[in-house]
Amino acid sequence: MNLSPLQRVRYEYQPKLPSILREAIDQVVPVKGEATAPATDKDQVKALFPNTYGLNKITFEKGNNEEIKKRVNVGVILSGGQAPGGHNVISGLFDALKKANPESKLFGFKGGPSGIIEDNTEEITSEYMNKFRNTGGFDIIGSGRTKLETEEQFEQARLTCQKHDISAVVIIGGDDSNTNAAVLAEYFLNKKANIQVIGCPKTIDGDLKNDEIEISFGFDTATKTYSELIGNIERDANSAKKYWHFIKVMGRSASHIALECALETQPNICLVSEEVEKNETSLSGVVDYISQIIANRGNKGLNFGVIIIPEGLVEFIPEVKALIGEINDLLAKKADDYSKLENTNDQIAFILNNVSAASSKVFSILPNSIQLQLLMDRDPHGNVQVSRIETDKLLIEMVSKKLAQMKKDKTYSGKFSAQNHFFGYEGRCAFPSNFDADYCYSLGFNAFMLISSGLSGYLSSVKNLSAPADKWVAGGIPITMMMNMERRHGELKPVIKKALVELDGAPFKYFEKNRDKWAIDTCFTFPGAIQYYGEPSICDLTTRTLALEQEK
Ligand code: FBP
Repeated sequence: MNLSPLQRVRYEYQPKLPSILREAIDQVVPVKGEATAPATDKDQVKALFPNTYGLNKITFEKGNNEEIKKRVNVGVILSGGQAPGGHNVISGLFDALKKANPESKLFGFKGGPSGIIEDNTEEITSEYMNKFRNTGGFDIIGSGRTKLETEEQFEQARLTCQKHDISAVVIIGGDDSNTNAAVLAEYFLNKKANIQVIGCPKTIDGDLKNDEIEISFGFDTATKTYSELIGNIERDANSAKKYWHFIKVMGRSASHIALECALETQPNICLVSEEVEKNETSLSGVVDYISQIIANRGNKGLNFGVIIIPEGLVEFIPEVKALIGEINDLLAKKADDYSKLENTNDQIAFILNNVSAASSKVFSILPNSIQLQLLMDRDPHGNVQVSRIETDKLLIEMVSKKLAQMKKDKTYSGKFSAQNHFFGYEGRCAFPSNFDADYCYSLGFNAFMLISSGLSGYLSSVKNLSAPADKWVAGGIPITMMMNMERRHGELKPVIKKALVELDGAPFKYFEKNRDKWAIDTCFTFPGAIQYYGEPSICDLTTRTLALEQEK
C-alpha cells in the first residue's frame, strides 16, 4: 500500500487517555457505583435479562490489581456502518491487553457479526495492528450488518469462542448491535459459557447517546467532514450567487448530523425531522416553508443559498410515514404476490391498488424515482434504507413547481436554479479527528479494563468529554439500563432507546433562536478541514452539539 504523507505521520500519533488509564495497568481497579434500572419497562426488561439486569455502574480508580495480569484471549467485532475511529477502538483494546499480559491475544471476527458465527477469525498481531493506527475505515477486519439474534447464532458464537479459547467478545456497534450484545451476554451467562461481552458505542448518526453515553464515536469526525464540505459549498454559492444547494446528510431517523452541520455552517435552512414530526408538517408544508425563504431572498436579489436536509426526513412527514408503514406491511404480507410482478410499472400499480386511499394519493404525487426508492429492500433490521431515498431531488422538484406558481401569482420575482448533494459515505472513513482518535482509543482501552474486571453486558463509557482528555472519566454502564420495549416487526422487543434530537435541548434551542436571521441574511460560516496538528483549541475541539449540551 502506498502511504500518503498524512497516514505516515498519523501512525506516530499517540492518542490521549483519561488520566486514570495512564496509570500502570496493574494500578487501576474497578469501583462499583449505584445499581441501575431502565427508565421504563422495568419488569419486562428484568424478566428477559435475569443475569444482567440491575447491575452497578462502574468507574475506575487507583488501586492494586494483580488479577489484571492473567492471560486472556479476546475477540472483537465491527458491526454496521463505518465510523471514523473504529481502528483506534481496536488499537486501544490491543494495547491494554498486551500491556496487562504480552501473552494475551486479540482475535478479529471478520466481516462483521457473521465472522463469529462462521468462525471467520484471525489473530490481530502487533505488526498488523500498526498498519491501522489512527486511520479511518473498518478495513482492519471489515464490518457487516448481520443481526446476531437467534439461539442458533448464539450457540455458533459460543462454539467459535470455545475453539479459540476466547473468553471475552467486544462488539463495536450502534444501538441495534449493542442491544444484540446485551442479549448475547445474557445468553452466555445463562449457559455458564464463561464468555464476557462488552459493547462500544459507535455510529456517525449520533443517536446512541443518553445520560451515560455522551456521544457515539465517529459523529465528531463525520460532522466535521460534512461541515467542511458544506462550508465550501456556501462559499461557492456566495461567490457565484446563482444556485440554491440542497444538501442531504446521513443520520437515519435522527437529525443530529444535520443539526450539528447547521450549527457549524449557519446555512439558510436546516430541516429537523423531529420538529417536522412534532408539528405534523405535511410534505406541502415543508415545500411551502422552503419556497417562502427562497422567495424572500430572491425578492431581495439573493438568488442563492444552502439548505441542509436530514436523510430521514420523509419518514417523519405524517402522510409519507403512514405510506411507508403501509408499504412495509403490504410487502411483508403479500411478499409472494409482489415478487411475481414483472416490472416497476406493475409494482407501482400494486402499491396504488393495495394501500389506503389516502396513502395511494400520496404515493401517486411522488416522482417515479422516489416511488421506486420507497420500494427498495429493507435493511436486516427492517428499516427503510433512507440513504437511498433522494429527498434532496424530491424537494427540488416540488419547490421548483411551487416557485413557478408564486411567480405567476406575482409573489416571487427571483430566479431559481438548484444543485443537489448527498453527504454520507464521504465522512464515514475519514482519518479520525484528534477527538475521535483519543475517544476511540480510550473506549477500547477501557473495554479491556471492563473485561479484566470480570464484567459482562456493559457498554464501555468515557465521560466528561467536553473537558481535556486527562479529565475524562472512564467506566462501564450496564446495557440493560438503556433499554426499553419497542414494537419491531409486530413483536415487543427489548432495545436500546434511540436518541433523537430533543426539541427542548440546548443545541436545537440555539438553532431555533438564530435560524430566522440565517434564513434571510447570509450568515455562512466556513469551518475548513479537520486539523490534526497545531493549536489544541482548533485541533482538539469537539462538536458544537456537545459543547452546547454541556455548557454550564
Ligand atoms: P450505523 O447505524 O450502522 O452506524 O450506520 C449509519 C449509516 O451511515 C446511516 O447514517 C445510513 O443511513 C446507513 O448507515 C447507510 O447504510 P449502508 O452502509 O448499509 O449503505
